[in-house]
Amino acid sequence: MARRRPRAAVILAAGEGKRLKSSRPKVLHRAAGRPLLGHVVAALRPLDLADIVVVASPRVEEVKADLEAAGLAEGLSFAIQPRPLGTGDAASAGLASLGDFDGTVIVTPGDSPLLSSDTLSRLLELRESSGAPAAVLTASLDDPSGYGRVVRGNGSVIERIVEERDASPEERDIREINASVYAFDSSALSEALREVSDDNAQNEIYLTDVVQILRSHGGEVLALETDPLEIVGVNDRAQLAEAARLLRERTCRRWLDAGVSIVDPSTTYIDASVEIEPDATILPFTFLEGRTVVRSGAEVGPQSRIVDSEIGPGAIVTFAVVRDSRLGEGSSVGPFASIRPGTTLGPGARLGTFVESKNTSLGRDSKANHLAYLGDADIGSGVNVGAGTITCNWDGVDKNKTVIDDDAYISSDTMLVAPVRIGKRAATGAGAVVRDDVPDDALAVGMPARILEGKGDRMKKRGGAPGGDPSDGPE
Ligand code: UD1
Ligand code: CA
Repeated sequence: MARRRPRAAVILAAGEGKRLKSSRPKVLHRAAGRPLLGHVVAALRPLDLADIVVVASPRVEEVKADLEAAGLAEGLSFAIQPRPLGTGDAASAGLASLGDFDGTVIVTPGDSPLLSSDTLSRLLELRESSGAPAAVLTASLDDPSGYGRVVRGNGSVIERIVEERDASPEERDIREINASVYAFDSSALSEALREVSDDNAQNEIYLTDVVQILRSHGGEVLALETDPLEIVGVNDRAQLAEAARLLRERTCRRWLDAGVSIVDPSTTYIDASVEIEPDATILPFTFLEGRTVVRSGAEVGPQSRIVDSEIGPGAIVTFAVVRDSRLGEGSSVGPFASIRPGTTLGPGARLGTFVESKNTSLGRDSKANHLAYLGDADIGSGVNVGAGTITCNWDGVDKNKTVIDDDAYISSDTMLVAPVRIGKRAATGAGAVVRDDVPDDALAVGMPARILEGKGDRMKKRGGAPGGDPSDGPE
């Protein structure tokens, strides 16, 4: 069997995105947790490409940084288009950086985040199997406005693509549009690009003109028609929101098919980068973001936001925000908890109502059920942290550490003034202010309140009555 010629891709991502009215490059606007460009890169990855070139504006460093943050920069090449003279000029910049590459080059826009690997692969195969100089992805839209129209010749052959602004009234009635995704024979493309001019309504160098040029050279340009949902290009904020919605729908559908229960997909926001095991349950109004993993049997939501965290098998998160943390098997969080970066919960551990944690670990079955702040704390197993407990970790200059050993018992309203250590099976009394280490098995009791006989009913003594004169409240 003849060896297939190599494949490469060029992503056009140097446009300004004027219609978004933003100071950020268009392709870095985010949908479903990734820059638009990141979705295109992810769709190209599985295609066995020798190179993927991103054509960026001179703000290429921003583009690189965002792709790196999304974990998608590996193996990409970058070409710079100094000025946004049009898609044809951008394609030339990309092709130049492929050097003496000779094979099939796929060209995609950076602003079409719904393209699927499967469709891209079919387009490549159509070009390769037909030997045609180009194959173009198209779709038929009820409302084709804003897109370039596809003028067909006989059968599946395309005669030319005309931009809306240059189209005649009859051409505007065509509903088949150019998705701006092409598979080209690289040398045919580079020859044709030399002939493209900026003689059009926008005075731009249009990549779309290549189609007509290839026809005039006697080549056939083939069309591959796909689902309109795949080709949505993001030019303004309304299309950005729509693309994000479609990505979310697709992601929810993928996890439903994989055995995850999503009670209400329309109010569930799962980033493309998230992983979920079968038999997890996601309840309504929940956001799963970044590099989050939800293990089997876990239940997340309602009303929860999980960012870059692992939710262990059978763990429960209710009405809570969890960021950059690890929740162990059968642990639970919430309702109304803020789990900040660096929190680790052992199996069966629990952080309950109105608890905030940061850079803190709790061992097996340790609990802070209500109203606590645990920061920079290393808490062993079987520890009970009473309501109102606070680790006073910040002395105004430094962050200090609190250590609570296994099976300690921290009573309500204990102030643990860090650095401090509570030994094994040690305890504190309610309201204790603990400044010194407490040895194993010891009890630390703080400042009991003094009893003042007869001074109890202050309100009555002053002539007011509880619930009486509202101006006579506590001072
Ligand atoms: C383009 C197509 C249109 C198609 C539509 C599909 C042309 C002339 N038109 O129009 O037929 O229906 O996409 O979405 O190609 N870019 C650069 N450098 C530039 C200009 C653009 O890199 O100088 C990049 C943009 O960042 C973007 C892509 O090319 O990712 C497409 O550019 P855009 O301006 O969005 O083209 P459309 O007007 O949408
Ligand atoms: Ca576009």
